[in-house]
Amino acid sequence: MAEAARDLFGQPATRVDGPAKVTGAAKYGSDEPLSNPAYACLVTSAVARGRVTGFDLAEARSTAGVLDILTHENVAGLAKPIPPIGGGGSSTTTLESDQVWHDGQIIAIVLADTLEAAQEGAARVGVRYAAETPSATFDSPGAESEPAKSEGKPKPLPSVGDAGSAFAAAAVKIDQRYSTPTQHHNPIELFTTSCAWDGPNLTIYEPTQSMWGLKAAVAKQLGIDAANVRTISRYVGGAFGSRGSVTTRTAWIAVAAKRLGRPVKLVPTRAQGFTIVTYRAETRHRLRLGANRDGRLTALQHEGWEVSSRPTAYNVAGVETTARMYACPNIATAVTVVHADRNTPGFMRAPPDTPYMFALESAMDELAYALEMDPIELRRINDTQVDPVSGHPFSSRSLMACFDRAAERFGWSRRNPRPTSMSDGDWQIGWGCATSTYPSNIGPAAARLSLQGDGTALLQLAGHEIGTGAYTVCALTAAHALGLPIEAVRVELGDSALPPMPGAGGSNNAASGASVVAKACEEARARLASAAVADRAGPFFQHDPGSLRLSDGHLVADGAREPLPAALRRVTNGALEIHAENIPEGLPPDSLAKLYKGEMTLLRGTSRKDVTAYAFGAHLVEVKVHRLTREIRTSRVVSAFAAGTLVNPLTAYSQFMGGAIWGLSSALHEATEIDPASARYINTNLADYLIPVNADVPSLEVIMVAEDDERVNPLGIKGIGEIGIVGMNAAVANAVFHATGVRIRDLPIRAEKLL
Ligand code: MOS
Repeated sequence: MAEAARDLFGQPATRVDGPAKVTGAAKYGSDEPLSNPAYACLVTSAVARGRVTGFDLAEARSTAGVLDILTHENVAGLAKPIPPIGGGGSSTTTLESDQVWHDGQIIAIVLADTLEAAQEGAARVGVRYAAETPSATFDSPGAESEPAKSEGKPKPLPSVGDAGSAFAAAAVKIDQRYSTPTQHHNPIELFTTSCAWDGPNLTIYEPTQSMWGLKAAVAKQLGIDAANVRTISRYVGGAFGSRGSVTTRTAWIAVAAKRLGRPVKLVPTRAQGFTIVTYRAETRHRLRLGANRDGRLTALQHEGWEVSSRPTAYNVAGVETTARMYACPNIATAVTVVHADRNTPGFMRAPPDTPYMFALESAMDELAYALEMDPIELRRINDTQVDPVSGHPFSSRSLMACFDRAAERFGWSRRNPRPTSMSDGDWQIGWGCATSTYPSNIGPAAARLSLQGDGTALLQLAGHEIGTGAYTVCALTAAHALGLPIEAVRVELGDSALPPMPGAGGSNNAASGASVVAKACEEARARLASAAVADRAGPFFQHDPGSLRLSDGHLVADGAREPLPAALRRVTNGALEIHAENIPEGLPPDSLAKLYKGEMTLLRGTSRKDVTAYAFGAHLVEVKVHRLTREIRTSRVVSAFAAGTLVNPLTAYSQFMGGAIWGLSSALHEATEIDPASARYINTNLADYLIPVNADVPSLEVIMVAEDDERVNPLGIKGIGEIGIVGMNAAVANAVFHATGVRIRDLPIRAEKLL
């Protein structure tokens, strides 16, 4: 069954939700109509560290239309602090006390009859602070370091052999430091929340990557039963991790709605989105690579430093990935968290892998030059089918197939290896490459499948459409498994009243969702088959039920065939409802119970413990750097990926391409600037926060390398949402070095760094 399902995938399908999206029929969180809503406007802290000593609210309260103002003085204790994310201590809080943890922290919420009145009232709120000098980032006085922890204990990190001695003895050595900047999400849909109470029942409309997680967390904060909370998030206008963590705003909007006895709607500003949700923190790295003269790695030491908030030790520890990239007998890793007066960081597309692979893949390029070896050949020499940390095989690993396909398409064999050797008029040309990778994750999931008397199917699950094509993935999977045209499958996602899916993070959604949908369809087939073979009057009497299958809208067996509606008439009411649950092999049995409790229970790697599972890819990049102005243009990109089964190659192509473009952004454009004195973000708008536009990406080609992975999970799905971004920053930096002879180790690469 699994093999057959794998074979069925692979036909490109346009998005089933495409028409709704382009006609405006798709409802995003703040599109949901509310009856007589009040509007909320946030007041955020103007200092990064200290205390609020008092508010002057008279003017704000007397503003026409203002209904109420929430501060810690009148609501502290009504919502408990949210549980911390990613291990570590307690999270930062808002409206709990007079304490200010970071610039831009929510310190008051003004509620009014109209948005304009709320905004005016908020502008009139006076705040008195006892401000202290904040620590902004690395090297700021007062920033405090500690080794990365997980649930309060030192985080176990990869370590193999004796890397220190091996490095000391290595014939060729690289010892360099790299850094990546702060980055903020800026999805087009803002971080909105609407809350409405109906007696004891709370409905939350909020773009989220974790509907059941949000429901459970807000219930816990408010001290109410999760059964009374419903979250609705039918479409999400950009997520990428920014909607993966519960933030403090949601519970306070629920509190506000309760106090007013009417629904409350919050649409924060773009700038507020920099401080009221999570972001990618700046990182630093020291990479030591030791190798033999033939290029084989003998030592790999990767130390990382990451910034977090004062009370929370959030960290991504991407050494888990870099330690596994290449065959190496001696590996040492370490991660240090540096606490500063900042909001708590969190997930952002390939959170660990994007910064850590920049360091490793830059260092690998430096090693290739030190060895006078082609950088692709260096990766070939160190390629491995065995995870060097665990000793287990990779479920599948097609890294070199990706490099070879991309290199052929790119014309890599024409590369002159010498830096500054290639040019076109006043433009220096550089060709660079890097490895891409991302772990394959899967979680438990549940789904409801209803086969209707007319031969159509309704599929319902609390899946997340974060732009990735989740509606289409579910529809395709059911259409394949039920032998129906995709138009005959209706999909409902985005409502916590439906059976739970794990949070849409870690690129698990296609694997988790398609697996449970396939299981529901198989259960439906089995029920129809067992009823059919027991029916003396039907065409399948005494057939082997296992031999009956669903195809072309029919139940079929050798020499027998019956339309689906006729087959359905043998079961209750001529319709069939299946509630399916799937616990992937390798996950503990209680993971399903945790899913219903809103806890994320992802399996990193694979459904088998004796195998390591990652998807792999290769980025090849051409840059042009102007001799005089040092303007940097990306002129050509070819990226190849092997990520197991692609449920829908059409949306997969877009995912890979979007990821690769974000990688270019990470290399050349993106950075949040922080004022070191005030610990305040400066470029908190889409004009000053640089991202690539079409003119920055003239030619980008994606090659999808076929890969059939029988070990990662029964459907062979590795996940594709995050791999596209990983390594691209290094590929560009390596190309810039090849063009100019200047090695940029601190992102982003900007013209001024090449002067
Ligand atoms: Mo992702 S950063 O797990 O949405």
